[in-house]
Amino acid sequence: MRVGFVGWRGMVGSVLMQRMREEKDFELIEPVFFTTSNVGGKGPDVGRELPPLKDASSVDELKGMDVIITCQGGDYTTDVYPKLRAAGWDGYWIDAASTMRMDDDAVIILDPVNRNVIDAALAKGVKNYIGGNCTNSILLMGVGGLFRDGLVEWVSSMTYQAASGGGANHMRELLKGMGVVHGAVADELATPSSAILEIDRKVAKAIREDVPTEFFGAPLAGGLIPWIDKQVDNGQSKEEWKGQAEVNKILGTASTIPVDGLCVRIGAMRCHSLALTLKLKKDLPLAEIESIIKSGNQWVKWVPNDREVSVKELTPASITGGLEVGVGRVRKLNMGPEYVSAFVIGDQLLWGAAEPLRRMLRILLG
Ligand code: HSE
Repeated sequence: MRVGFVGWRGMVGSVLMQRMREEKDFELIEPVFFTTSNVGGKGPDVGRELPPLKDASSVDELKGMDVIITCQGGDYTTDVYPKLRAAGWDGYWIDAASTMRMDDDAVIILDPVNRNVIDAALAKGVKNYIGGNCTNSILLMGVGGLFRDGLVEWVSSMTYQAASGGGANHMRELLKGMGVVHGAVADELATPSSAILEIDRKVAKAIREDVPTEFFGAPLAGGLIPWIDKQVDNGQSKEEWKGQAEVNKILGTASTIPVDGLCVRIGAMRCHSLALTLKLKKDLPLAEIESIIKSGNQWVKWVPNDREVSVKELTPASITGGLEVGVGRVRKLNMGPEYVSAFVIGDQLLWGAAEPLRRMLRILLG
């Protein structure tokens, strides 16, 4: 199978390359690397000889691929995908960008959760397989078992989203901001007797005036930003809108399960977290809820609702860089026996972006 890669040098693309090397995916395919800027250059180290980089805007070159995997972003998809199909290309298009997610002829891929939807689409001849929004993928990797068993009446999802969701520049901006904040009071911090309110005054001034805001549009270091992505007409942010739209499409639900909440950017590097309120269709014992959540998939890392273990294991520090999705803080809420809380946390670049793409390729390889 000739597999073309576009956008493999960016952040999601680099994580994809790393995961594909780890899982020895390259041994099973004939990889061809494309570029938007360095035609004829050398491809990445994937443990085997590669042809020189090909032109990612050349429909003729792309047409020779059985599968194209792109992490190049939405503008590339908008530009190149229609030309390829118009030229008669019939291959599989696997895309990390959101552009085509809601199209009728596309499936949102998260195979540990919706392998049935993917298999049905393959059987019908669907050729477009699109990675989901990171927050929704992490939500479903965490509590997908409850959805699978038809137990969720609705879910309110309040998110704490990492800088990586914005991109590499956003991660750098967060770190620069942290440095600016620290720098503003480094001397005082070195002196234990210095006045905390004076430190706080200087920090507030640094956050307002000196923390860089070029990419986030507001200071993130030492703060948060209560809006992610564009504004939608009904008062939701685009990120919030995606919740219900994508979760229901991923699951292929017959009637829409309401999913809504506020999405907030926080100063984590690459772990997205979600504080959930789930309204279940019935009053289940907590032990049963636990076993259903654990049965969702092999990457669920169940964290008992206990202080010591939660603050250690249900955190970005613990989860970052791995495939496990933490699920904890599960308890019945005061609102009534069907109301259950959960805290879900996952690496935004793995299940949230790169991992479903390489797994889709594996599915195509059989
Ligand atoms: N839109 C997400 C975020 C990342 O900004 O965190 C992409 O799924």
